[in-house]
Amino acid sequence: MNQHKWTTPEIRSKAAEILSRMSLEEKAGQMTQYDWGFNPINPDTGLSQRDVIIDQIAQGKVGSVFNLPGAEQANSLQKLILDKTANGIPLLIGRDVIHGYRTIFPIPLAQSSAWNPELAGKTAAASSREAQTDGVAWVFAPMIDVTRDPRWGRIAESIGEDPYLASVYAKAWVEGAQTDDGPGLATASCPKHFAAYGLAEAGRDYNTVDISDRMLREVILPPFREAVESGALSIMASFNEINGTPACANRYLLTTILREEWGFEGIVVSDYNAVQELITHGVAADEEEACLLSINAGLDMDMSSGIYIRYLPKLVREGKVDERLVDEAVLRIIAVKLKLGLFEQPFVTAIASEYATESSLPPEHLSLARQSARESIVLLRNEKETLPLSRSTASIAVIGPLAKSLQDPLGCWSFDGRPDDVVSLLEGIRQSVGSNTAIHYTQGCDVESDSDAGLDEALETAHQADVVVLALGETYLMSGEARCRTSLDLPGGQRKLAEAVAALGKPVVAVLITGRPLAIPWLQDCTDSIVQAWHLGVQSGHAIAEVLFGDYNPSGRLTATFPLNVGQIPIYYYRKNTGRPPGGVYTSYYIDSSTDPLYPFGYGLSYTSFRYGAIRYEKQRISKDEAFELSIEITNTGTREGEEVVQCYIRDEVASVTQPLKKLAAFRKIKLAPGETTTVSFTISESSLAILDADMNLTVEPGHFTIWIGANSSAGESVRLTVEA
Ligand code: BGC
Repeated sequence: MNQHKWTTPEIRSKAAEILSRMSLEEKAGQMTQYDWGFNPINPDTGLSQRDVIIDQIAQGKVGSVFNLPGAEQANSLQKLILDKTANGIPLLIGRDVIHGYRTIFPIPLAQSSAWNPELAGKTAAASSREAQTDGVAWVFAPMIDVTRDPRWGRIAESIGEDPYLASVYAKAWVEGAQTDDGPGLATASCPKHFAAYGLAEAGRDYNTVDISDRMLREVILPPFREAVESGALSIMASFNEINGTPACANRYLLTTILREEWGFEGIVVSDYNAVQELITHGVAADEEEACLLSINAGLDMDMSSGIYIRYLPKLVREGKVDERLVDEAVLRIIAVKLKLGLFEQPFVTAIASEYATESSLPPEHLSLARQSARESIVLLRNEKETLPLSRSTASIAVIGPLAKSLQDPLGCWSFDGRPDDVVSLLEGIRQSVGSNTAIHYTQGCDVESDSDAGLDEALETAHQADVVVLALGETYLMSGEARCRTSLDLPGGQRKLAEAVAALGKPVVAVLITGRPLAIPWLQDCTDSIVQAWHLGVQSGHAIAEVLFGDYNPSGRLTATFPLNVGQIPIYYYRKNTGRPPGGVYTSYYIDSSTDPLYPFGYGLSYTSFRYGAIRYEKQRISKDEAFELSIEITNTGTREGEEVVQCYIRDEVASVTQPLKKLAAFRKIKLAPGETTTVSFTISESSLAILDADMNLTVEPGHFTIWIGANSSAGESVRLTVEA
């Protein structure tokens, strides 16, 4: 079944029947969404925003609200509709459920590092189930903006830099988030931000995007296409402009591509106040024009500005907007409400409430949070087998401003999470060791100030210990929306602390608790081991301790390149050759830096080692419509069980338009016991071989392809494939 064609004849005829009874005001109302959390008092009327929303809901002039405080409020607004309005169209209640509701899972960038989309789908489903307990039927997730700029704070919410990986995650996340267990237990997802928001110039949020159609279609759109194909019931149009036209006024994006090319049947909602922002962008002179531009572009719902309800009826009556556009948008909105069963059950049900988290987190969600957290961790460096730490270590110093933090591991977009639910790194280590191991803690320095007041005590604490664990990183407020940075170093006094502690000569393990890749080459010089632990959510400390002590063998692999310095950005594996041959002066390089990253895409270490055998295949020449089958034997040559992410990359060697030197085409995550060997097979078919040719047609061009299988984007053996004409 084509999942993206989810409307049925029943849904369509029921929606049409409801539409036929609606006034123009009610139609514009359905296309209006308000933020319940934003509640200023109007000085002229003395009314709060909420008073106005309640009044409008009672008149049938609101289609959706978000940021409600809980089930009671949700039920009372749904009841208001049933009691007061003629058509009784339930509210679609939304929420930013980005990486958990009350149970906070790792940030999406971390979850992508697990290379386990199925697991991400489970965290998304668990999050939707918890959100349903508060009447939420619409989650504003997943964020599938491909981004190649770690300065951009929202890289934390992303799946990283690769369009294929982001597409695989988009599918799993949409299918997971959109639980469909009957009325009261159904949720719509909202993949965002359509489109190219992750390419904001200079990594500064909301900034201008100028992008070729080729880049748009090769890199940015594939995850959205996959989300649509997977049945996403809505999509959020982004804040940014694209080539001069802001997304919410961009007919090419919202109508030509989304509706006409892809056949998308769901709702397109604007980002927050983005219709209003068309005025600041300078494409609309006033609110009326902003309304006109958005509706004509194909935007169904206006988030928070109220412009649609204020202007659409008037513009239709004046003949400036075709009522057909309004009707189509309303049909889509009602169809989603019908699909979710909201007409049958607008209230929070007893079954939905089973996942209520008031007193404690559901145990199965906690174990999911732990699994997701441990699989998200990436071991970046491990010299002298410093890790895993031995449980017979007599004394461990845990030093650093992130060691005890309960708030920071929650990361960005965690306002429904609670610090009290978090296991800090210090606590995780404490609970993990026996009574023979002494744990000494001191904060050492601050993330936000350069003060070295804590340095002496830190050195004293480190001096007493056999091994030092440094808990370094970024606070939860340093990544996420509008949290962009120009330096990607460890902020505050952390570098000074790390270097001073390292000078003592003890074994040092750095744990990086961050929302983004950092550019920290110097850290390699002063630590034996580096563990990239991200903002890992409620089970953070337990998961990191499992890795530190070897209860879990780290299996995470980077999904965003770690730069050597900020000047290299954007740096990503999916790059092209220049025309310049390597070597000599006049070549594509820096006079003051290597062009290599600190850690490449796909990189991550393990406590065991894997041997990749020779690539095997039956035939090296195929015709255009055939698939190429290849396989490889992988052996765990170490002494511990371990997981490996086997990555397959492809390059079209000579094509009618230039191609990236490597593109991820497939991957498999496998688990092997010590000494065990397994065969991993891949099928390279048209979807991996095809390119967008000079005329933007998706075609397999005959010729040679290189295909690699390896442990990361810079490693691996290759084979040459010939596709015959
Ligand atoms: C963000 C969206 C979010 C929306 C609603 C915006 O500022 O860009 O990702 O869904 O707010 O909170």
